[in-house]
Amino acid sequence: MSLDKRNSINNILEEKRIFHPSKKFAENSNISSQEELLNLKKRASDNPMQFWESFAKSELDWFKPFQTVLDSDNAPFFKWFKEGKLNITYNCLDRHIKRGIGGKTALIWEGEPGDSKKFTYEELLKEVCKAANALKTIGVKRGDLVCIYMPMIPEAMFAMLACARIGAPHSVVFGGFSSEALKDRLIDGNAKVVITADGGFRKDKVIELKRAVDTAIESGADKVVEKVVVVQRTKKNISMINGRDFWWHELLIDQKEECEPEIMNSEDRLFILYTSGSTGKPKGVVHTTGGYNLWSHLTFKWIFDLKDDDIYWCTADVGWITGHSYIVYGPLSNGATTVMFEGVPRPSNLGAFWEIVQKYKVSIFYTAPTAIRAFMKSGREIPDKYNLDSLRLLGTVGEPINPEAWMWYKEVIGNNKCPIVDTWWQTETGGVMISPLPGVVATKPGSATFPLPGIEVEIVDKNGDKVQENEGGYLIIKKPWPGMMRTIHGNSERYLESYWEYISFKGEKNVYFAGDGARIDEDGYIWIMGRVDDVISVSGHRLGTMEIESALVSHKSVAEAAVVGKKDDLKGEVIVAFISLEKDVNSSSELVEELKKHVVIEIGIIAKPEKIIISDALPKTRSGKIMRRILRSLAGGEKISGDISTLEDSSVLEKLKELS
Ligand code: WT7
Repeated sequence: MSLDKRNSINNILEEKRIFHPSKKFAENSNISSQEELLNLKKRASDNPMQFWESFAKSELDWFKPFQTVLDSDNAPFFKWFKEGKLNITYNCLDRHIKRGIGGKTALIWEGEPGDSKKFTYEELLKEVCKAANALKTIGVKRGDLVCIYMPMIPEAMFAMLACARIGAPHSVVFGGFSSEALKDRLIDGNAKVVITADGGFRKDKVIELKRAVDTAIESGADKVVEKVVVVQRTKKNISMINGRDFWWHELLIDQKEECEPEIMNSEDRLFILYTSGSTGKPKGVVHTTGGYNLWSHLTFKWIFDLKDDDIYWCTADVGWITGHSYIVYGPLSNGATTVMFEGVPRPSNLGAFWEIVQKYKVSIFYTAPTAIRAFMKSGREIPDKYNLDSLRLLGTVGEPINPEAWMWYKEVIGNNKCPIVDTWWQTETGGVMISPLPGVVATKPGSATFPLPGIEVEIVDKNGDKVQENEGGYLIIKKPWPGMMRTIHGNSERYLESYWEYISFKGEKNVYFAGDGARIDEDGYIWIMGRVDDVISVSGHRLGTMEIESALVSHKSVAEAAVVGKKDDLKGEVIVAFISLEKDVNSSSELVEELKKHVVIEIGIIAKPEKIIISDALPKTRSGKIMRRILRSLAGGEKISGDISTLEDSSVLEKLKELS
């Protein structure tokens, strides 16, 4: 890992613009003064335990109170609110009905072909209870892992909450992952049941989800999976296996509309969610009930400045952590109205997002920089056709946002009146860690600004020494927080190695390393520079280079593969693969296409290489390590700088230059 030029920051070092929230926004915001914010931060640093305790008590309902706020005995395997008992679905549903807002819309769903539905809190609770009872009838018990592999339909939300209702942790797998990727996740997590759909609509196509589940089970997941529940969405023909496969609508038909929430321990698993790292297969990030409930709830409340009549829309997919925390758990725990969209904007309908904003009068809108850049490219004429006056707050997440895209978002979508919250966080952090509070923090285009109250970050070098102002370094988090991951499923060693042992932070133990580089400017603003490990971010989707390399070498024609990220104006980064072929295999454009397809089959469409460069050999050091630094420069069309004296055979480089 190195903090090298690929995270060049020169372009934004010059960024000096600063924007204060409008007077109107500031006056009406939930946290509206500097004093209030400073007071929160002071409370958190003076007495962190009291700080977390007070929020855990005031924001969540507990069936049984906790005694210990934080148990660090076995750090960094921290435990939060240990003795407490709760159920996150009680906090997301029942309590709102009890306080009399059961008739409020909880979910607005917009389907890809134009169908739509709404559910009030009361209706949502009934759907969740029916689904929970249905899962029980097919044998799902507390502690059993249930995999959810679904399109963005209301049943995906019902399924997640139904699992949580009965204490069965879920493992949501993004519907864009292939059957191979699904199989790995089913086996790794030991998933007993899969909830899926006959298919999903995406960009004028039907994605055959059930077929992928069948393939995953046939190719090895039969070791673990016992039952499959299928939601009817596309009505396309699929095969159902008697005794193994059940239609969702048939299972639910006679189920009761009540289901007592299971009394969960604070540290019981709520879900596993797989994400990519530098090495090996994707890791199953484990989140538990109490801490995650508090963090997704509190961050949502702080950052999105929620009001009773807000219509909130996060455009992510529930298959990612953003969907977990900010489509499902955070908004519902706060009693918000959350919008869910099955589709994505596509060339034939670039106004899809703005049409939804107009149709439902969305007031808070949360999306990814890659989407903003795509809209920017297709011109402001498209959003200008819609009435976006309802918007009052905008958010971004997933990757660094370039100042141009930030300004466009502010001017064209926000009509210069909406603050922008650039929220930095990760699957592992459970909720946002660095973000402006929209009513009080002045923003700079491209900066995620400051850590939230209770969160302490630092930028350090490899030895753990604090770096200078504006100097790039590793982003670390110095104190545990309630929403933090608890471990990697089945691999606690990897949990320690990846996050806690990389930086030897001076004098302090248990420092969390996020995998990102960052700098802090002269005003204390944090600028995230991107990953410093071998993780590529394509349109904000995290992919490990090693995963893609393994997929490539699993093809019979490939001898060796090295994958790097190349900067891209739209997607942030794209994948470039350098490969050498097995003896007697000839390079051809057909083979390149076949290899791209092979990666899609092994992982999914999001991992498709943009470019595959076939070469006789890859540049290696004398000790046999592939020199990625050189490949990155080649892929990016940059001059190769730095030391190349360790290169074993410099003629390889000359040949590669011709090919790239
Ligand atoms: C990585 C985490 C957290 C939800 C979506 C991605 C990058 C995330 C920002 C931001 C700059 C960001 C980081 C991080 N990232 N948000 N606002 N500015 N970079 O979750 O797949 O776990 O990826 O996304 O590199 O480490 P994820």
